[in-house]
Amino acid sequence: MNAVAAMPALKPPAPLAVQELSLSFGGIHVLQKISVLFKPGEITGLIGPNGAGKTSFFNCLTGLYSPQVGSIRLGELALEGVPPTGRAALGFSRSFQHVALCPELSVVENVAIGLHRQSRAGWLEAFLPLAQGRAERAANRELAVAALARLGIAQVADESPSQLPPGVLRLAEIARAIAGQPRVLLLDEPAAGLNSVETHDLSNALKKLRSPELVLVVVEHDMDLIMEVCDSIHVLNVGTLLASGTPAQIRGNAEVVRVYLGDEDE
Ligand SMILES: Nc1ncnc2c1ncn2[C@@H]1O[C@H](COP(=O)(O)OP(=O)(O)O)[C@@H](O)[C@H]1O
Ligand SMILES: [Mg+2]
Repeated sequence: MNAVAAMPALKPPAPLAVQELSLSFGGIHVLQKISVLFKPGEITGLIGPNGAGKTSFFNCLTGLYSPQVGSIRLGELALEGVPPTGRAALGFSRSFQHVALCPELSVVENVAIGLHRQSRAGWLEAFLPLAQGRAERAANRELAVAALARLGIAQVADESPSQLPPGVLRLAEIARAIAGQPRVLLLDEPAAGLNSVETHDLSNALKKLRSPELVLVVVEHDMDLIMEVCDSIHVLNVGTLLASGTPAQIRGNAEVVRVYLGDEDE
């Protein structure tokens, strides 16, 4: 049985365990021997300077990159050889560093895109006026509106992304990532480009996403947000794990302050 077929055996909550993961491109070491345990029910921060390897690490988790060494397990399930689509089916979901909503679709249609990919009628039929596609579209719209409501922005469901401020677009992107009820949610710099009020709203929204079955990992440069929402934090620096701990431990770690947090306060 392949990993995806084995999915029903994977009972939530499942921790995500990364062991000795190393990734390189043409002799350049991007990640070296990273071991981290992400616990469901917690919000975990992943921080570090630009180029530290944070996005590459997410790419390894989602299967976009294939690390040369190491293992990634979701519960008992080893993910080696499981492609990105298989990992999505297992409940991996992510948002990207740059907002990527389609301006021709309404907000709720954008959110539903991820669901159409999983649906029985398939992505194409979801946009065609066939009976099965119609029924799935209605069900998916309901799920998409529910995801927007969880983030407090159901009122913009039928608006165009081009009309909306960055903070709302960011929440809409996260709604798209949670609509399929993921068990692993990876957010890459969700506060990038947001003002302080929007970042505060985002922070509140993230805290509400914490749930006993969800592994939630946030890559972020905004230290106020990270320190406020995270239960634990891992610090990457040029591909190596520099430190792990609670927000207070990370704030008080002299090496972390030297290579990263020191810059933040300047
Ligand atoms: N596909 C790739 N090919 C070659 N180098 C890459 C690739 N993806 C990432 N890198 C390199 O990996 C390093 C870490 O990048 P990245 O993961 O984007 O860092 P971060 O997200 O922490 O800013 C950078 O030096 C980057 O150039
Ligand atoms: Mg990055």
